[in-house]
Amino acid sequence: MAKIIDGKAISKDIREEIKNEVAERVANGLCRPGLAVIIVGEAPASQVYVRNKKKGCEEVGFYSEVYELPAETTQGELNALVDKLNADDKIHGILCQLPLPKHLDENEVILRIDPKKDVDAFHPYNVGKIMIGDYDFLPCTPAGVMALLERSGIEVSGKECVVVGRSNIVGKPQAMLLLHANGTVTVCHSRTRDLAAVCRRADILVAAIGKADFFGADMVKEGAVVIDVGMNRRPDGKLTGDVNFAEVEPKASYITPVPGGVGPMTITMLLKNTLTAAKNRE
Ligand code: GUN
Repeated sequence: MAKIIDGKAISKDIREEIKNEVAERVANGLCRPGLAVIIVGEAPASQVYVRNKKKGCEEVGFYSEVYELPAETTQGELNALVDKLNADDKIHGILCQLPLPKHLDENEVILRIDPKKDVDAFHPYNVGKIMIGDYDFLPCTPAGVMALLERSGIEVSGKECVVVGRSNIVGKPQAMLLLHANGTVTVCHSRTRDLAAVCRRADILVAAIGKADFFGADMVKEGAVVIDVGMNRRPDGKLTGDVNFAEVEPKASYITPVPGGVGPMTITMLLKNTLTAAKNRE
């Protein structure tokens, strides 16, 4: 029987800490952290994320602005908004919700956001800082995973860590953060030979491929820590991770559920990055 890592509870604790720090800052005459969120078009999943981000800001006492732009927005209009927010002293963090509609260039937007306000840590400047271990911001999902491990008392140093998935947002930075924590890291992907055998080596397995219930008991070592980054919809509409929870849970020592594991941590890490951005301005 695995211990269930309660991402909701850990997230709540961290938000409480952020809230207290914000209250203290404001009481001491320091600026209230401000986050701007941009969403272009009307993808329902993105709308839910954006609503939750705004709610998260209110919860911890941040100032926030949400820009809901129509799907026909031009690159020029989007760039102009980013420029305006870059220059706005009330705004410490800027997040442009991805994916963008096809006619817009995501890279152009990422490059345009002031790296000091890049609370997603997507700008190549921040990606490079993460690579050398000298960073202000960590990308929200991998940072959330590290916080779950730390707050559950799980030691990474010296452990075999297997990350499955190599996206720029999750897999690659996750591997780097585990490496900084002195894990021995393997990154797997769709071309990996005998994936199950590599996964079975893992003391800490991070599943981030976006395939519902893909990781079964045959892919997990007895006593492994299993972190499920997946967010998939089953045909019946229910949310499920990349890990077959019913099969894997009896074998694991720790496991994150979906929902209620990594998911709640991502916005909390975004809030943490925004607080850091505000502090770095002083
Ligand atoms: N879309 C899905 N996840 C994310 C994220 O972490 N940041 C942004 N900007 N867009 C996303």
